[in-house]
Amino acid sequence: MATPTDGISDNQTNNILNELKQFDDTKAGVKGLVDSGIEKIPGFFIQPQELLPKSSEITPPTLQVPIIDLGAIHKDAGCYKQIVEELKQASDSWGFFQLVNHSVPKDLLDEVIQGVKEFHEGDKDVKEKLYSRDQTKKVRFASNLRLYQLSAANWRDTLTCVFDGSLDPFEIPPVCRDNIMKYREAILQVAETLYELLSAALGLPSDHLRGMNCAKTQIMVAHYYPPCPEPELTLGTSMHTDPSFVTFLLQDNLGGLQILHDGHWVNVAPIPGALVVNIGDLLQLVSNDKFKSIKHRVLASARGPRISVATFLNPGFDEKKLFGPIKELLSDTNPPLYKEFLVDDYIKAYISKGLTSSALSPFKL
Ligand code: OGA
Ligand code: NI
Repeated sequence: MATPTDGISDNQTNNILNELKQFDDTKAGVKGLVDSGIEKIPGFFIQPQELLPKSSEITPPTLQVPIIDLGAIHKDAGCYKQIVEELKQASDSWGFFQLVNHSVPKDLLDEVIQGVKEFHEGDKDVKEKLYSRDQTKKVRFASNLRLYQLSAANWRDTLTCVFDGSLDPFEIPPVCRDNIMKYREAILQVAETLYELLSAALGLPSDHLRGMNCAKTQIMVAHYYPPCPEPELTLGTSMHTDPSFVTFLLQDNLGGLQILHDGHWVNVAPIPGALVVNIGDLLQLVSNDKFKSIKHRVLASARGPRISVATFLNPGFDEKKLFGPIKELLSDTNPPLYKEFLVDDYIKAYISKGLTSSALSPFKL
């Protein structure tokens, strides 16, 4: 509840709620606002000053997110060992890396981006029909996944597909359906290799992470970041960590994604054909903080639209096994940092917290 000392009266709060609702009811998203020709962004998109990028951060120092080249993975044992070593460094000190020479054809990546763009720029009726905040819908479209929970709305619209075994592919809009289905298969294959390498990087048998079934549910969010008339006042995506086990991100060539590395915002520079991968909160937890889930955000820009597709790999949401730090990693000198829990408790804890705090805190010992 707002108090007079907050400087926000109940009336103002109600006004903002009404404006959000009006915007939501258009079912046309941020793209709809841009198409209507606005030159000033509505107040509810304006971020508090402290969350906006400072001018010195917009072009950060030329630090670069690690690049992991999978090209030589089958060449010989030495190459394999080197990739594992690079991955270990990257997952520990960066939590983000770019995979190149993976098995997903570049043409498919380009077609996914193109298909997603066509959906967002396509038939308004198709989008309106899919527009929903109903979490039980496996395929849905909305502007801002958490429109009513954020301190300010983000300059972004999103098509979400939840692959949990019950999604009917025919619910996916035809303009991007085939490419999304092919891309999902391809990502699952790369994930198998990645889980094997990450297991080795943790010093575990190569099938350990795969055996935990942590790609069972895939949530794919296909974002559209329209050009913004006042990009210095808002964000494309607010700072957050991903609650997933691992996230695969496909981005087009516009840029705008930044990660918070050692206190500096570092650009994740687009590399054609690369897949950005980041460690999610759940992998940080089971690795007992050996791997890090890093805060990231997307800047708003006058250039656009920018397209990106994030695929969150997660355990089955009905998994009945307890999760916690992997026992084989623990010792007297490396005691568990988290308690054990069910996936269901984890999801509930994530939903009840704000987007900006980590999903891990309720499970810390
Ligand atoms: C996300 C995310 C980054 C991007 O969806 O969690 O961080 O570049 N997306 O869109
Ligand atoms: Ni993210």
